[in-house]
Amino acid sequence: MSIRKFAVAGATGRLGRHVVDVLTEQGHQVVPMSRATGVDIITGEGLAEALTGVDVIIDVASWHASDQEAATEFFRTATRNLHEFGQKAGAGLIVAVSIIGADKATGGFIAAQQVHEEANLSGPLPARILRAAQFHEFVGQLLDWQQGDVAYIPALPTQLVACRTVAEALVDLAVDSEAPAQPAPGTPIPEVAGPRKEVMAEAAALLGARRGVKVVGVDGSGMPDAEIAADGAFLPGPHAKLAGPTFQEWLDAQP
Ligand SMILES: NC(=O)c1ccc[n+]([C@@H]2O[C@H](COP(=O)([O-])OP(=O)(O)OC[C@H]3O[C@@H](n4cnc5c(N)ncnc54)[C@H](OP(=O)(O)O)[C@@H]3O)[C@@H](O)[C@H]2O)c1
Repeated sequence: MSIRKFAVAGATGRLGRHVVDVLTEQGHQVVPMSRATGVDIITGEGLAEALTGVDVIIDVASWHASDQEAATEFFRTATRNLHEFGQKAGAGLIVAVSIIGADKATGGFIAAQQVHEEANLSGPLPARILRAAQFHEFVGQLLDWQQGDVAYIPALPTQLVACRTVAEALVDLAVDSEAPAQPAPGTPIPEVAGPRKEVMAEAAALLGARRGVKVVGVDGSGMPDAEIAADGAFLPGPHAKLAGPTFQEWLDAQP
């Protein structure tokens, strides 16, 4: 494999730090981009300098809250800037992460990913998208959002996947010189998910037990798209790549 120069937008995030690790382990040059490294993909500060000589941009940046409108605006602006600055810098490809079910969501953060996907596929740079299932690391975030020692978590199906596994799949997609343009006629957007279906509240209860938090499973009503989520709208399709560790294995390996 030829060594190439990658810029990672969102390099300090839950997923981004694993993308940086995988690229570095494979011997690629990596430019980490986040506000913490002096690059703002919304205002454009530091972006032109960071993208100098970069071949491929991997976009795993995110808005920090679940509000659909604000997240949509974030993805629209960030994607436009990454494409425009990337084109000027001579980059040849953007690879962006989205969420499984983004095409089915009607509201909330997951629906904001539709704009992220559309903006990427509108160019000007060629773009590849990988839809990922909810992360093992997201379960802790759900507990963090709740107060006290009881957490109310939706008992909805999910096929949790480790951020490291998603990072490996993203890098595979980024370095694959044979990958077809997306969306290739008649082929779905690639997906990556964990090895088995889980129930979010049950996974949260395993983590809660470690943290001294009691988890109560709830039906998810009040949450955007709870009904279609209960019917499996956010589970991987038959073409998805499934890979471990399971949530339990991942949890056992945490310090
Ligand atoms: N959570 C899940 O279960 C899940 C599942 C599938 C897909 N995804 C998607 O995966 C992606 C990454 O999620 P994550 O949980 O890893 O996100 P995260 O931990 O919140 O990280 C977000 C990253 O974006 C950076 N960032 C935010 N605003 C920025 C700006 N203006 N300029 C430059 N960098 C900026 C942050 O760094 P600074 O704060 O330093 O700027 C950070 O590095 C998102 O698109 C998310 O929707 C998530």
